[in-house]
Amino acid sequence: MVQYLKTKRGYFYKLFKNGKKKRITQSDYKKSKTRKNKYALIGGTDDSKMLIYCHNRIVDLTRANTNHWQGPIFKQLLTERGIDPTKIKVDTIDLVPGGTIVADGFSKSFIDSHENEFDIVILPDCGGLWNEFQKEHNDENFQRLLSLMIELLRLVKPGGTIMFGKIMYEDWFNIFMDAFTNASIFQYSLYRENDIKYIMITKA
Ligand SMILES: C[S@@+](CC[C@H](N)C(=O)[O-])C[C@H]1O[C@@H](n2cnc3c(N)ncnc32)[C@H](O)[C@@H]1O
Repeated sequence: MVQYLKTKRGYFYKLFKNGKKKRITQSDYKKSKTRKNKYALIGGTDDSKMLIYCHNRIVDLTRANTNHWQGPIFKQLLTERGIDPTKIKVDTIDLVPGGTIVADGFSKSFIDSHENEFDIVILPDCGGLWNEFQKEHNDENFQRLLSLMIELLRLVKPGGTIMFGKIMYEDWFNIFMDAFTNASIFQYSLYRENDIKYIMITKA
């Protein structure tokens, strides 16, 4: 949040981050033209958070070996958003210990306690309900999966994105596109072999 503050020495911006105050001159603030630079000026990029679903290992996107088979895709996502991999905290969640969060990522209690927390949430290859709801190609299962996706969207900060992978039925992509505003399809060739397809939703 940015507020104006008039002092004896002129107009300054008063910036709040984690309840702390910081002042910079209006001219310095104006010099940073992009939203990203303005955030960098107030240190906001250090608050960036990403959550990788259904992975029970720690993922390090600053290294060549990220510890996730879709690491190159995650790195591309950060590059596209101009996010420095050293400035984003990457969490992984699984029912099985080994990552940073051990929890049922589809439960109401988990979603309630992490609402509006992440800049990027990604579900590359989930099991559990994600798999369960796709065992049969019918309307009921589609609706169950759609409801789960709407729930999961709560995890994302306004302006952040959630990416749903491992969608088994090709025609469901198009129906999801109709169901969500701000949805797009994201496709990536991993190791020049597999086409990995995601539906990406930006939270308004
Ligand atoms: C296909 S495996 C993922 C493999 C893993 N990403 C990897 O690269 O090794 C599916 C994973 O989903 C996890 N899973 C299933 N239900 C879950 C839930 N409700 N919350 C969190 N993780 C869940 C399982 O424990 C399992 O590790």
